[in-house]
Amino acid sequence: MRRDFLQQYEKNFATADTLIYDRFRKKESLNGEWHYTVDQYDCCLRDGWYNERYYDEEGKRVPYDFSFDEWDVMPLPCSFNTFDEKYLLYEGPMTFTRKFLYEKKSEGERMILKIGAVNYLCHVFINKKYVGLHRGGSTPFCFDITDYLKEENRIIIQADSTRRDSQLPMSNTDWFNYGGVYRDIELIRVPEIYVKDFKIALQPNSNFGKILVSVELSKAVDGVAELSIDELGVKEKITVKDGFGELVFDAKPELWSPESPKLYDVKLTCLSDEVKDKVGFREIRVSGTDIMLNGKSVFLRGISCHEDSVKSGKGLTDEERIENIRIAKELGCNYMRLAHYPHSERMAELADELGLLLWEEVPVYWDIDFASEATYKDGENQLKELIKRDYNRASVIVWSVGNENPDTDERLKFMSGLASCAHKMDTTRPVSAACLTNFAKNKIEDRLEKHLDIIGINEYIGWYSPDFNLLPALFENSKPEKPVIITELGADAYPGLRGTVDDKGTEDCQAHVYERQVETIKKIPYIKGMTPWILFDFRCPRRTSAIQKFYNRKGLVSPDRKHKKLAFFVLRDFYNSLEK
Ligand code: GCU
Repeated sequence: MRRDFLQQYEKNFATADTLIYDRFRKKESLNGEWHYTVDQYDCCLRDGWYNERYYDEEGKRVPYDFSFDEWDVMPLPCSFNTFDEKYLLYEGPMTFTRKFLYEKKSEGERMILKIGAVNYLCHVFINKKYVGLHRGGSTPFCFDITDYLKEENRIIIQADSTRRDSQLPMSNTDWFNYGGVYRDIELIRVPEIYVKDFKIALQPNSNFGKILVSVELSKAVDGVAELSIDELGVKEKITVKDGFGELVFDAKPELWSPESPKLYDVKLTCLSDEVKDKVGFREIRVSGTDIMLNGKSVFLRGISCHEDSVKSGKGLTDEERIENIRIAKELGCNYMRLAHYPHSERMAELADELGLLLWEEVPVYWDIDFASEATYKDGENQLKELIKRDYNRASVIVWSVGNENPDTDERLKFMSGLASCAHKMDTTRPVSAACLTNFAKNKIEDRLEKHLDIIGINEYIGWYSPDFNLLPALFENSKPEKPVIITELGADAYPGLRGTVDDKGTEDCQAHVYERQVETIKKIPYIKGMTPWILFDFRCPRRTSAIQKFYNRKGLVSPDRKHKKLAFFVLRDFYNSLEK
């Protein structure tokens, strides 16, 4: 029983490089009933359960500690914490298995396994062989499993939600650590040479008159890709050289905006592959201290939101996502901060359709191991997976490289590296982060800001810093040359608890904080948006006071979405007072 049993699995990593473009592809779902067990001592990996060793070399039966197809069943995808209350507080490895049939349909085809997300480590085995490992709790990943397949196959997934200081996020977060295989599990059948990546967007600074498209094939071959957008009468050929091709061409699409979320059906064919998407064309850029959407300065009337549900944990249903967006729109929002990690790709797809701007973020949260090269690689990979996944989503307007990090040299190197990675991957969107202010000087000042296009600041004046006079002083002391978004402000309030404005934990106190914040913020010309913390109360093991009861109570709405607190209406009235 060797202690270094994990060493053998440190290979075959699923990364942004193995992620394939999968939108509107035919998929064979592996969602549904999987057999599973809590695997608290990591035995699947430690003892090699996946070898299914029932007999010894002489063919004699040997004792074994697993019974894959007699284990209980769990309907995947789901957060196991909310599947059964006995698992609510479980963190650690859980092993899942099922069988599936495979029938080869065409010569040279490849079978890709795509999993929408597993929190946090995911080891995959097929037919007693190790397929590989993915690190990262909130981004999709793929494995080419073609060479592992027979007619009848057994797949084993070991999902390990253990928190570790080497990971992103590290072991201490202000949200609940839901575990499991909580987004779709799919098989995608592609030709031997297929479209591995497909990016399309309005070319910035082109007077809304040019579209940029790029394509990457699964092999470094030459060819010609054909892009069509029938509604625009677009039919463009893209020359592909050594597997890559890109083109900028003239087009005058109707522009996408939250008020008018116009989407176009686009199709790209290349060799024997075809991919599609539904795309909105819009321009987002910074000009001085303005955020320009389609050439017009915009104020981002936002709210922050966790991917958290009483019933579904982090594995929200579409109904829950649509309800969250509906409530945000009722609040008067045109914008939402998806904190503090990539939410489901369904959020960006729904935001495209329903008209909502989004801030998406990687979980570089608080004081992670900034000095670790391995942690940086992990963080950079999660950022690349997020950008590859959502590049074509018009609703996504900001990539955020982190939240509330101490201003140290290691952190500056780490996060400026992520910012330049985002800028390299995507020339069409601004990059930001939710920074702390300089408390000592009460000033917006953080060395990371020169690497960002938009400055996000978290300030809790009136709550953690009770003296409201600090707020006007903060803005007077600061002379930012870039747009500022207040990425967090707020206060706790137990739903329904009433009192005076000084009674912390009451709705009256929370509403008063919002009133005082808004009356100052609305006068500051360089503040171009806000995403107060937070739309809904959310599960949080760090919050155990009498009014919290394992929930962070800064929501404007109760966890069950049934009760809007007084502050909801204060913010709604402010947003409705702004000219649209
Ligand atoms: C921080 C942090 C949030 C946290 C919030 C709070 O700003 O970014 O994740 O929940 O404060 O204290 O409630």
